[in-house]
Amino acid sequence: MPKKILMCSPEFFDIEYEINPWMHVGNPVQPDLARQQWQLLYDIYTKRLGWEVSLIEPVSGLPDMVFTANGGLVVGDRVALPKFRQPERQGETAHFERWFQQRGFTDIWQPTHDFEGEGDALLWNRVLFAGYPWRTDRPAHAELERFFGLSVVSLQLTDARFYHLDTALAVIDERTVALYPKAFSADSLERVRSIVPTVIEATDEDAVAYGLNSLSDGHSVVISDRATNLISIYRQRGLDVHPTPIGEFQKSGGGVKCLSLELRDLVV
Ligand code: ARG
Repeated sequence: MPKKILMCSPEFFDIEYEINPWMHVGNPVQPDLARQQWQLLYDIYTKRLGWEVSLIEPVSGLPDMVFTANGGLVVGDRVALPKFRQPERQGETAHFERWFQQRGFTDIWQPTHDFEGEGDALLWNRVLFAGYPWRTDRPAHAELERFFGLSVVSLQLTDARFYHLDTALAVIDERTVALYPKAFSADSLERVRSIVPTVIEATDEDAVAYGLNSLSDGHSVVISDRATNLISIYRQRGLDVHPTPIGEFQKSGGGVKCLSLELRDLVV
């Protein structure tokens, strides 16, 4: 089934504040290049892969709204809204909420603890891998478990450069995830290995190139073009790989996955 994705054009995207180690206000975005990179990703999804992309209107003064993965977690008709840690991003929530309301989602809820949407919550089969502590509080995981009725596996992130789970772990298919081992506590790493049959380990270079911030439907993988080792591993495994440049977004600590929120029909 083609994936359904929510994206937001980078019209107002820039580095206006610093809330992760990648962001430097002295290293601004090149708007034309960002626009081009975003459009390329949009075209891969829609033209090459036939995925369905919906758009949310960008808002001036909310430069990180382009990273729709943080706009919620959607499973079927249920939506968990984000509760952003940083004041700079808190204004985004109302816009995402309105978009979901207008699209007919009725079961919209917000946790009481900090939670940054799919950036920190990745669904693998019926297991929800949830990251903490940089942007999402661990008690939010129990709230998600209750709301979605999914079993949540909490994963502790230990490297500030990989502050959202989706920067350090990628779901590839129902038997496989890829991850950057050094971004996780030993216990958390063990937990993933005990549940997932195949765990692909990313090199330092691929992790720093944001190669884990990718999107896969189990057949096609869209990934940063600088993650050369992962690209060849995936190709050797028979996957259809679509490398694409995301350099302008990485200036903000974002990549392919951060730019995409999955609108999942149901849990398979
Ligand atoms: N500048 C944004 C922030 O720090 C980047 C968000 C990246 N999103 C993600 N899903 N990892 O919040």
